[in-house]
Amino acid sequence: MIIAIDGPAASGKGTLARRLAAHYRLPHLDTGLLYRGVGRIMLDRGFPLDNVEIAQAIAENLDLADLDAEKLRTRDTGEAASVVAAHGPVRQALLALQRTFASQTGGAVLDGRDIATVIAPDAEAKLFITASPEERARRRFRELVGRGELADTADSYQAVLADIAKRDARDSGRADAPLIVAPGAVVIDTTDLAIEPAFAAALAAVEAALR
Ligand code: CDP
Ligand code: CDP
Repeated sequence: MIIAIDGPAASGKGTLARRLAAHYRLPHLDTGLLYRGVGRIMLDRGFPLDNVEIAQAIAENLDLADLDAEKLRTRDTGEAASVVAAHGPVRQALLALQRTFASQTGGAVLDGRDIATVIAPDAEAKLFITASPEERARRRFRELVGRGELADTADSYQAVLADIAKRDARDSGRADAPLIVAPGAVVIDTTDLAIEPAFAAALAAVEAALR
């Protein structure tokens, strides 16, 4: 059984993916980490993010085992990830790894932007998790303030909201694997849902898809 979960930044898809993976005892891949890994290396080595050849070479040599989720959560890494993710050759370079993960015996849960459309279009269960930009910005803002990356001010909330809007536009507007609701995907809007009710809705949608 493959559970494919897509959605915009800070919609809660990662939290739901982890919860569903634990519930069904399936391995989970946060595919955003792959793009964050490429973006981080580009930043650390001082490569311009629009250099497609270098980004592609980094993606081709990316090792899942080297990706430190904690270190890759910063704001600049997410921003860089969405720039390199718009390069077709980078997406191509990361395709096999994701497909292999998805097709392992017993199944898997993957979350990202193109799981139900490109990586695993035959997934048994497809979820599209969303929430209003303001609510997603509030969630991301709370995380960043909690980690000490941002000051707890109205201005920094506005900056996060602007980040979210920019990332939404880039992820939905790109030519290659844009963020869209896949045919057959169940849309769950978590704007007014805490994690527990969101998980209950996601679980019900998966159970219905498996029936
Ligand atoms: O957690 P958040 O939603 O902020 O970001 P993420 O899922 O870690 O993804 C970071 C960036 O990687 C996104 O803005 C996308 O541009 C890109 N991405 C993608 O293009 N395709 C995926 N399957 C996953 C992420
Ligand atoms: O993976 P994605 O970027 O879509 O989001 P996430 O990392 O699962 O969630 C972003 C933040 O929102 C986390 O701090 C979650 O605890 C929080 N969240 C929430 O407050 N309510 C929800 N229904 C889902 C997530």
